[in-house]
This record gives sequence, structure tokens and C-alpha cells, in this order.
Amino acid sequence: MQAKVAEIAPDTYRISAFHPDYGIEFNQFLVNDDEPFLMHTGFRKSFPTTLEAVRSIVDPAKLRWVGFGHFEPDECGALNEWLAVAPQATALCNFVGSMVMLNDFADRPPRVLADGEVLPIGRHRLRLLSTPHVPHGWDACLYFDETERTLFCSDLFFQPGEREPLIEAGIVERAREAIQGGLAGPMAKDLPYTPDTHGALQRLAALAPRTLAVMHGSSFRGDGRAALLGLGAAIDELLGGRSTGA
Ligand SMILES: [Fe+2]
Ligand SMILES: [Fe+2]
Repeated sequence: MQAKVAEIAPDTYRISAFHPDYGIEFNQFLVNDDEPFLMHTGFRKSFPTTLEAVRSIVDPAKLRWVGFGHFEPDECGALNEWLAVAPQATALCNFVGSMVMLNDFADRPPRVLADGEVLPIGRHRLRLLSTPHVPHGWDACLYFDETERTLFCSDLFFQPGEREPLIEAGIVERAREAIQGGLAGPMAKDLPYTPDTHGALQRLAALAPRTLAVMHGSSFRGDGRAALLGLGAAIDELLGGRSTGA
């Protein structure tokens, strides 16, 4: 298997592998800066593929930070493989992520970031946002690159199939269709609707991202605020059974 690499924002590379068995893409993102940051490790079994793709951008041994959205194999399954090839690499997570997952799972201790804490990696500044159970997982968090206004949004805006790297319109419609289509399938209930879901989407929208880096499907460039409000409204309606008009 070979991954496709595309620059979707300055210094920000999308590494995409389509898995026919799943019928979806698994995308990692590399921010190539003084201290290179990898968002999602990909599956442990896909490590050779991801490694070769990263090597086409930067020496993998120079990787400094590994972030992910929540503890699942596509998000962080290859974490220890990355810690092995990159001696300076450190996993990033929030408090719950460290206490519940990484303190045991990771071969080296993670760096724990507080909600809203900023990590400068050179020109880029990454802000961790804790988003419990959005899209899912107690430990859920997302990263926002304040420099280029890129939101690494994990499973939010999920789109099945093999997609183009970057689109500038139609992402809310695709995401809405995917949520609706998934409701009756065997993978339903991937996104729990809690009293905090609406507020979490509003908080992300207030960041006004310029690029949405999506884990499964196309990334988006444009009005990220409107896209996140649109996604929030779709989730409120389809999963929460309420119309917010947001
Ligand atoms: Fe997930
Ligand atoms: Fe995922």
C-alpha cells in the first residue's frame, strides 16, 4: 500500500491511505516545522506505509511531537513504533489521556497539555482543546494551529470513500449525509450526543479555522466557522433530535 501526500496548508501535509476493506481513507497530518508534529500515527499495521510517506517530507528520526484525537488504533496504534524510530519524539495528550491510556500504553511518558494550552513548535503554535466525547472518547481532544488557523478535527466531518485531498465547498453536506447514512448501519452511535456536544462545536467554530484537516475524507479550506456551525446544526438535528438554527 502507498499513501498519497498533499500539502493542504503551509507546511502542513496530508498523508492519505485508502483501505478498501474499510472503504474509507485514513489520513495523518504532518506539520513540518523546527519541531515536526504528526497528527495521528495511523494503524500499527500501516506503520511502514506511513513511515515512507513521512520520509518523503522530513527525516522521520527528527519527529518531535505526536498528537492524536482519542485512543483508537487509527489515531495512535503506531505510537510506540514512532517513539522507536524518533528518539526525541514525545506523545501529546490531555490529563485523561495520560491517566487512562498513555501512562500505561506509551513506551515513553507523554507531555500532558492543559485544555487551551499552547505548544510552540517553531513558526507554528498548536493549541490543545479538550473535547470529551466529541467526536467520541473520554480523552478526546483536538489541535488548532494558531499560525495557519488549521483545525485538526479527527473524526469530525467524516466522509466515506476515496476523496480529493482538499475541497472548498460542500463539506457540511457530505458530513451530514455520512451521519445520516450511518444511523442505520452496524457502525451507528459513533458520535454520542451529550449535554456538552452543542457547546463543543460552538467553541470550535469560534476559532474560525481557515483549514479543516479531516481524518477520513477530504480536508476543507474556506469558512471553517460556518462549516463547524453547519456540522453542529446537523448533529443537533440528526443525533440530538433538536433544531437549533445555528
Ligand atoms: Fe475515532
Ligand atoms: Fe478515525
